[in-house]
Amino acid sequence: MDYDEFLGLLRYRRTIRRFKPDPIPDDYVTKILDAAHYAMSGGNSQPWEFMVVKDPEIKEKVFNAFIDDLNQMYYLELQRIPQYRHPAFNVSPEEKQKAMDMIGGWKDAPVYIIVLEDGRKMFGSVLAARSDSTGGSVNVFASSMGHLGMTLHLAAASLGLGSQRVDVGVQEPYRQVLKYPEPIRLNIIVPVGYPAYQAGPPRRLPLRGMVHSDQYDMSKYMRGEDFLGYLDKIRALGRPGYRAAIGEGKA
Ligand SMILES: Cc1cc2nc3c(=O)[nH]c(=O)nc-3n(C[C@H](O)[C@H](O)[C@H](O)COP(=O)(O)O)c2cc1C
Repeated sequence: MDYDEFLGLLRYRRTIRRFKPDPIPDDYVTKILDAAHYAMSGGNSQPWEFMVVKDPEIKEKVFNAFIDDLNQMYYLELQRIPQYRHPAFNVSPEEKQKAMDMIGGWKDAPVYIIVLEDGRKMFGSVLAARSDSTGGSVNVFASSMGHLGMTLHLAAASLGLGSQRVDVGVQEPYRQVLKYPEPIRLNIIVPVGYPAYQAGPPRRLPLRGMVHSDQYDMSKYMRGEDFLGYLDKIRALGRPGYRAAIGEGKA
């Protein structure tokens, strides 16, 4: 693979938030997991496990737990004025269902890949072993799980599938349904399937504002209300992706 092909895959992968119910070949799931588990991790500790959920009853329970969870997140997000809210939550309370559909429209995905994390495995990392056991060096742990996530999404994209990263707020409802023991935790839910809409190219801020030569360029440093401008910009970049998930405009 050359750079252009690699960049092509990176640009093709978008977060997909609505899926066709059509099943995907079983070996696609195996391929995705096989690719994902080559992700780099601190000390090669590989602090992850996977659960493949296809049973409609279990899927429904997982999804319902998420909708409940999402409902709580919606009300917390109302603390911000609409302009600066998460792009899926920038709707009036009367349109709350739209917010739920934008971020929680993944119900129909034929497979939910549940990524689990086991903090004890972080003893493999020098940094984690230096601090406490499961909570130590959160950065190395969270980054390792992040690398896993990205690798998994890229693998799905390489097979022409869409995937969404779904973060959860609480553990207990999922633990009850999926029966994973303490201290294992659910890291993310990744619904996978054929996209129900076409996503356009990814939207990113210009690279030049993020790159410094030799020493930090203070003209690129944000102060005071610059942060609000920044938030405004990324909200604008994010909104089309969420709107497209409910059939409004292009991703
Ligand atoms: C750490 C992290 C957490 C995220 N959490 C969620 C999430 O809970 N739900 C969701 O729909 N997208 C989530 N996303 C996806 C981002 O919104 C998405 O990557 C970003 O808007 C860029 O869009 P793209 O993935 O289509 O390029 C998350 C991404 C990352 C890296």
